Amino acid sequence: MGRIDRLLAAMTVEEKIGQLNMVAPSRVVTAPGEPRDVDEGIRAGRIGNFLNFWGGDEVHAVQRLAVEESRLGIPLLLGLDVIHGHHTIFPVPLAEACLFDRDLWEKTARAAAEEAAQDGIALTFAPMLDVARDPRWGRIVESPGEDPWVASEFARAKTRGFQGHDLSAASSIAATAKHLCAYGAVTAGREYASVDLAERTLHEVYLPPFSAAVAAGIAAIMPALIDIAGVPMTANAPLLQGWLRCHLGFDGVLISDYNAIAGLRNHGVAKDTAEAAALALKAGVDIDMVSNAYAQGLPEALQRGLITMTEVDASVRRVLKLKERLGLFEDPYRRGAAERGTTNQRKLARDVGRRAIVLLTHSGGILPLSPEIRHIALVGPLAAAPGEMLGPWASAGRGQEAASILEGLKAALPHCQIDSAPGVDVSGEDMRGISAAVERCRDAELVILCLGEDASMSGEAASRADLGLPGCQRALAEMAFDLGRPVVVLLSSGRPLALPWLFERADAVLATWFLGTEAGHAVADVLTGKFNPTGKLSVTWPRHVGQVPIFYGQRPSGRPTRAGGRDTGSYLDLPSTPQFSFGHGLSYSRFTLHDLRCKPSCVKVGESVEVSISVHNDSLIGGEATLFLFVRDVVASIARPLLELKGVRKIVLGPGERGDLIWPLPVESLAFVGPGLDPILEPGLFEIHLGQSAEATELLTGIIELV
Ligand code: NOJ
Repeated sequence: MGRIDRLLAAMTVEEKIGQLNMVAPSRVVTAPGEPRDVDEGIRAGRIGNFLNFWGGDEVHAVQRLAVEESRLGIPLLLGLDVIHGHHTIFPVPLAEACLFDRDLWEKTARAAAEEAAQDGIALTFAPMLDVARDPRWGRIVESPGEDPWVASEFARAKTRGFQGHDLSAASSIAATAKHLCAYGAVTAGREYASVDLAERTLHEVYLPPFSAAVAAGIAAIMPALIDIAGVPMTANAPLLQGWLRCHLGFDGVLISDYNAIAGLRNHGVAKDTAEAAALALKAGVDIDMVSNAYAQGLPEALQRGLITMTEVDASVRRVLKLKERLGLFEDPYRRGAAERGTTNQRKLARDVGRRAIVLLTHSGGILPLSPEIRHIALVGPLAAAPGEMLGPWASAGRGQEAASILEGLKAALPHCQIDSAPGVDVSGEDMRGISAAVERCRDAELVILCLGEDASMSGEAASRADLGLPGCQRALAEMAFDLGRPVVVLLSSGRPLALPWLFERADAVLATWFLGTEAGHAVADVLTGKFNPTGKLSVTWPRHVGQVPIFYGQRPSGRPTRAGGRDTGSYLDLPSTPQFSFGHGLSYSRFTLHDLRCKPSCVKVGESVEVSISVHNDSLIGGEATLFLFVRDVVASIARPLLELKGVRKIVLGPGERGDLIWPLPVESLAFVGPGLDPILEPGLFEIHLGQSAEATELLTGIIELV
């Protein structure tokens, strides 16, 4: 008999349920919950898992209670939301996605895993893989953006990064893909609201990143807090048992979201805790995160015959298996044993930070800043706000360790006078500081406005109905523009902000998101030209909140929009085009694309098309171009989107240099979710589109035929 069978045979019902119970001590509370005296629960085997608790010594102390003082000595599993860094904070995921760089996505997850594991953590509730197309939804900041192909690449890279080659290694932590699924499609972008969408959309858009995570060997998955058409994901047996476990063969652990099992009563699908617990367990949810519903409800559910002991055992087995894979039985103290801070992740944070910045507009050649510049006014509530730079989910990151924009610019421009003033708060009505701030701008050669949202305005439970600048920031900005000085705007935010007036008036606008510990230095690198910007939008940027949800992968209409036509699909009062397309992001270089070729132009199943393009750097500045390859299936049994992303490539070119990119496109990648929801390949014509973004007017187009 193996270890797990032996343990299962020896466990009481209470000890079994204990392995399915995850509790939060009091350090960080991420949702309402009751802090409990946990020591006795651990000794008695009623608590098998912990969250929101870290630090080598502290973790080892609770681990000792489990391993040395409980009857069976089963180690605890310690989890934490290590979302975009642990001590060293990297850019928020929406910003990191703008890198379109698998290697760096993997590296930041690895770095975060190493730091978290040094603090005794064995499990993270990341990566978040929710495709997000509605910037009202606050959690768009935690997502890899709007595209399922990108989210799938992100899933693979993050799983590899967190889990490493060997999950039992002292530096590896188990990853949790969340939130299965379609959380990003909540009604009207309202947090926790119901979701109602076609099954086809689930399979085309929302599920693929989770399949990718499963194929990459993800250890755990968290069902979303929402319901899909009346079926809460925490109790969604068809998706969790049917699609995930049976169809994909996922045999890892399903961890409920915070309080989600008890929440089944609020959803109106369970009349008491026993029913809620039974529904979740039957759907395949193994661990109850803090709701105590398993501890309270499963014994009664067993008695009432709502569940069987075999079902309980299956979940316990999966939890024990994960603990075994993590090496916790062999050495429960392996994580948390090393000294903190032996590796320096700040260099990586700075590099990833500057790569996440997206140069949205740039006219008149104001950037990069001239080395001769001697006087800058740095104005706005986010200019000297190091804590805000960490974003809404900063794990053990400390605001005082983060570089503000002011600090970064001062370090980069030691001979330049930099006058700084907030002018206004991020939100609120107080305008008294505006005149002093505008005074600072009067004599400056350049005004840099640091505007946007604070870290609490995106993330969980932070939806916004308005995508404008909060508070009185617009008044501050308008007065600064009225001075007639050149103005560069840095937008810190967890979502695209609809600010057409600002894009109109500023000489340059950069999306600087929440870039983490090295934010200020990353921004300075881009402004000074030490780094030529390469970031590309991972989401379509709307002009107006009325356009959302907005994304590039729209299906064609039976009445396509004609310029000036009466049957236009545009709004009467607004264009239907976005402010900035998916993939948009300027560089200080200027790239043009030439000679798109697709060879052969006629292909069969099993073959591959070679797509090639010549990229020219028509400027005097060396830089990196990013190219997107989209496909359109012209005629299919189900109408296909106008563009579907199939790959992203980068090329570094010196001043005036030209280079070729060659791209193999396997015919299998032209498959789509067919009428029966299984992948199918249909013969016919496919357009191949290549461009520097999804902006339709700038794409080069080729055509191939599948016979
Ligand atoms: C609730 C959030 O939805 C989830 O993403 C997170 O992992 C848990 N709380 C734990 O903090």
